[in-house]
Amino acid sequence: MNVLVYGIAGTMGKIVYNTLKNHPTAKAVCGVDKFANQADFDIPVYTDIKDVKEHVDCVIDFSVKAALPDILSYCTQNNIPCVLCTTGYNDDEIASINEASKSIAVFRSGNMSVGVNALVKLVKEAAKLIGMASDIEIIEQHHNKKIDAPSGTAIMLADAVKSQMDNLEIVNGREGICGKRTQNEIGMHAVRGGTIVGKHEVLFIMNNEVVTLKHESENKGIFAEGAIRAAEYLINQPAGLYNMQDMLF
Ligand SMILES: NC(=O)c1ccc[n+]([C@@H]2O[C@H](COP(=O)([O-])OP(=O)(O)OC[C@H]3O[C@@H](n4cnc5c(N)ncnc54)[C@H](O)[C@@H]3O)[C@@H](O)[C@H]2O)c1
Repeated sequence: MNVLVYGIAGTMGKIVYNTLKNHPTAKAVCGVDKFANQADFDIPVYTDIKDVKEHVDCVIDFSVKAALPDILSYCTQNNIPCVLCTTGYNDDEIASINEASKSIAVFRSGNMSVGVNALVKLVKEAAKLIGMASDIEIIEQHHNKKIDAPSGTAIMLADAVKSQMDNLEIVNGREGICGKRTQNEIGMHAVRGGTIVGKHEVLFIMNNEVVTLKHESENKGIFAEGAIRAAEYLINQPAGLYNMQDMLF
């Protein structure tokens, strides 16, 4: 499998590039990054995806949401599947991803780790069992370079709760005289500092007892491994929208 690594000069892009060096069945054939130094890579790296000349089987993207239109037009024009790992998309951007998935295979997940996706399943189960009796709060913690909040994973976890319960709305942080908590809230809290790779906790707070489901990422390699596994899965799928739940469970 020939992979184009989009955002190759970034933290995650470099990890994907290095992971692919030792991969038995996939290799990076080129990269794209607005701010890359070609000397850091032994494959061609472009500043514009339109200039790519290599044969590409799949794009793996860890970059910024502003790159989405370029990635989707390259992939739809050339009929190439893409794994979108970038987070922070708004509703219009998600709509453009859905539209592209009518003609190409698109994989999107706010978190590419196996453990987090197992957590999503456990959160759905807990929401089914005790959600109605609980106040549900989500706390996420990340490094001080993260540019979006709440994290894509926290949103996935909130969506997992919402899939089991009606009329819930996300309340991001609380400040001032914000009034009493209602039963219709999922409270979201973002902690930022140092080099924390990613911690997520979902609290089901009942009267006199709390159930906490928690995941901690120790190393960013888990996201690169998951993205490459997703690419291998995706190149054998028809056009459509896929996520980690489809691939794993
Ligand atoms: N889904 C997951 O499991 C997962 C895991 C980790 C990070 N992420 C997400 O991946 C994204 C990247 O994370 P990172 O830590 O590698 O960030 P980063 O800032 O280190 O890297 C981003 C790279 O994109 C490049 N870039 C910026 N604008 C560009 C453009 N228009 N075209 C091409 N390249 C451009 C930058 O030069 C940089 O090299 C973030 O959205 C992050 O939240 C997702």
